[in-house]
Amino acid sequence: MQKNNEISAVITGVGMYVPDKVLDNKYFESIVDTNDEWIRTRTGIVERRIIEDGATSDLGTRAVQDLLKSTNTDPEDIDIIIVATVTPDMFFPATACLIQDNIGAKNAWGFDFSAACSGFLFALENGANFIKSGKYKKVVVVGADKMSSIIDYTDRNTCILFGDASSAVLLEPSDDPSLGVKESILHIDGSGRNDLYMKAGGSAKPASHKTVDNGEHYIYQDGKAVFKVAVKGMADVSAEVMKKCGLNSDDIAYLVPHQANLRIIDATAKRMGISPDKVTINIQKYGNTTAATIPLCLTEYYRDRKIKKGDNLILAAFGGGYTWGAMHLVWGID
Ligand code: COA
Repeated sequence: MQKNNEISAVITGVGMYVPDKVLDNKYFESIVDTNDEWIRTRTGIVERRIIEDGATSDLGTRAVQDLLKSTNTDPEDIDIIIVATVTPDMFFPATACLIQDNIGAKNAWGFDFSAACSGFLFALENGANFIKSGKYKKVVVVGADKMSSIIDYTDRNTCILFGDASSAVLLEPSDDPSLGVKESILHIDGSGRNDLYMKAGGSAKPASHKTVDNGEHYIYQDGKAVFKVAVKGMADVSAEVMKKCGLNSDDIAYLVPHQANLRIIDATAKRMGISPDKVTINIQKYGNTTAATIPLCLTEYYRDRKIKKGDNLILAAFGGGYTWGAMHLVWGID
């Protein structure tokens, strides 16, 4: 629990960017053996956005520009940029460097963070700790993924699920102990590494003609295996965080879950005793945008005036690795 003299790390601004191009379920009927009804009922997805010209750094840059504009922040005042992504522009330099240069954050340092669909949650914990250390005043945490760059559009098991997007938050210190990032419980378990991953292109199996011919540079997922552990992982850890913070379901304004599958979200909320009207959902519009899902929900629900200052939020995620966790966040923007 936070002591009164500790610095709070509070989200003081949000920003987002989704590309214009929409791929609806009908489009997928024309390229693989699927149909709108199957996709809606099995996943909750109706459409997703795809960037036609640009990379993850372009998605991230636009989200941060939206954040800077809406908070009237000078990019030169930013201390750290943390970018959660599994689709960096390249192995190196980090996408954080590219966004830093694009926005003119001349005094910032930063890095990329790889935790798949839990990336934003892990990065937010990290960013909050930099603020709580007292050394840094403005930390930008970005979730950005161009999932279309690692999708096999001939594989109906995966191609219907993912979209491209980015969203970003600004963390700043506050001496109000009631606001900001509270408890979090985060986990990794590499024994699940073969259920959701990219088989080639890294140092274990560098890219070659053979790996490309075999489609091993695309995302691979054993959907059934991931589904089961995702529900249990997100629900258990969210309940643990609530218990640690002395919260019951009536105290929660919103559960803000990673948007991978509406059935996973519904099952998680049910196990937590959270009613459906207290769950943020935008999967129908964007699909699974990996590191961007949670900040996109925060941004949209805040801008729609649904999330308000002082609201208790439980952020929860599950992703490849495995990686998973939950966080208690008290909203700090009027
Ligand atoms: N259209 C029509 N049929 C499809 C299809 C599609 N797009 N994709 C798969 N199917 C078929 C399968 O081939 C299978 O057919 P079969 O029984 O003849 O082999 C059938 O539908 C059932 O497949 P299954 O994998 O059991 O479906 P599901 O109900 O588990 O849904 C997912 C598949 C991927 C939507 C679901 O498993 C899921 O969301 N998994 C977890 C995703 C996740 O959380 N990832 C972690 C974070 S990224």
